[in-house]
Amino acid sequence: MKAKKWFTSILICSVLSMPFTYASASSNVTGKYSLKFNKANYTEKTLTVDGKNITYRAYEKIVYVKNPVDTQYEIMNVYVPEEYYKGKSIGKYNATTAPIFFPNTVGGYMPGEPGSPGQDKRNSGPNAALVALSKGYVVAEPGARGRTTQDETSQYTGKAPAAIVDLKAAVRYLRYNDKIMPGNAEKIISNGTSAGGALSALLGATGNNKDYEPYLKAIGAANERDDIFAVSAYCPITNLDHADMAYEWMFNGINDYEGRTTKGTLTKEQTEISDELKAMFPNYVNSLRLRNSDGSKLTLDDDGNGTFKDYIKSFLIESAQKALDSGTDLSILTWITIKDGKVTDIDFDKYIAYAGRMKTPSAFDSLDLTTPETELFGTSTSNAQHFTQFGIKNSTVGGSLADSHIVKMMNPMYYVGAKGTTNSKYWRIRHGTMDKDTSLAIPTILSANLKNNGLDVDFALPWNQPHSGDYDLNELFTWTDKVVAASSKAHSAIKIKR
Ligand code: DHB
Repeated sequence: MKAKKWFTSILICSVLSMPFTYASASSNVTGKYSLKFNKANYTEKTLTVDGKNITYRAYEKIVYVKNPVDTQYEIMNVYVPEEYYKGKSIGKYNATTAPIFFPNTVGGYMPGEPGSPGQDKRNSGPNAALVALSKGYVVAEPGARGRTTQDETSQYTGKAPAAIVDLKAAVRYLRYNDKIMPGNAEKIISNGTSAGGALSALLGATGNNKDYEPYLKAIGAANERDDIFAVSAYCPITNLDHADMAYEWMFNGINDYEGRTTKGTLTKEQTEISDELKAMFPNYVNSLRLRNSDGSKLTLDDDGNGTFKDYIKSFLIESAQKALDSGTDLSILTWITIKDGKVTDIDFDKYIAYAGRMKTPSAFDSLDLTTPETELFGTSTSNAQHFTQFGIKNSTVGGSLADSHIVKMMNPMYYVGAKGTTNSKYWRIRHGTMDKDTSLAIPTILSANLKNNGLDVDFALPWNQPHSGDYDLNELFTWTDKVVAASSKAHSAIKIKR
């Protein structure tokens, strides 16, 4: 949980070192931009965290590709602790070894402008970027195009796979400039929430895969590797092509729903769709051949019960135990069995009824093409498309189907352990127990798949946490410090810094 003791007041002393020369925000730029980092182009800023001044150099709105489509989004902000220009260290890190914290601001698969250190808009206290700076990380905040991005001719320019292509291009920029920029581009740690969490996971899963190469070439991304060191993903809205069935596997039978702006009861047609989608899920789970840490199989029977469900339950029990140990009163939740201070069982179906349904079926590939995900898979001229066979077969609006190769490129599951791909070694995935934006099965499947492929995964379902991110920054950075320390084989610690 977020430490409430963080007290932050913002004190911005902006010392203009050089006038900015970045291009003003406009779309569809055709001019060429340099990929070389300009180390003289910064302002000096100071913020306070917990009463302590954090002074840093802010390099903002750096266009990270040679041929941007949109300079409002294909830009990056880079922040470097001032100490690193005086040869000093912060904790265990210095200008050469500092990991690079790489948070995106994408939500709802919308475009995201690069973020900056400051107050967290969702949680009280400093945001992740500011905490990272205070702990000696270099912070690189990429922007990325999204589903609503358009050029001046109203053509869409940010439909899939634009956002992941942009994040990869930003990673390549950091690698291209690794020798002249503070921080170690072999220690990039991505962070994001929801759609941003999905992109963070996708970035970690798809390192150097050739599928993205033509798109990267087209925007003039640096000719560098784009694998990253570690992934932090909060409530990733991912595995979209299987998310509808996962949602109905979990919420089938719960007919009342409450979204952020909608509320109601499923119609008869919707409950039938729910039944159909639920019935498809066991086949999918079983096709993945997932295994528990003891090697036993994680499967579901035709009714949707089995070891995979027990596996999810084990994470819920672990989460309830943690809540109990930290003093949370769970006694009113009659679906939790506690004996002698130990959570021994959770009635999964009652837990789901307690959490409640948020979305109507089909939750992601909506049959009327109104969801963010159908818009993600639009084209330059079509705002939304279906992206599953079920969606196209049952479309109520005569929709078209997205290119299956592009659907693949937005799903990390296809790239975990894939040939010609460098997966991040370290993963931290969080999905709150009160988060109903996607099924718990989705982050659980991703985590199991990563673990089964020999990767280091810290997966948990924080108790009572709704759909949100960055709520446990102390724990997050304890984890990042730990995995950085654990990776003894640094690719290139020997760099010349000036
Ligand atoms: C987000 C939330 C959703 O429910 C969804 O379907 C897609 C994205 C988000 O918060 O980013």
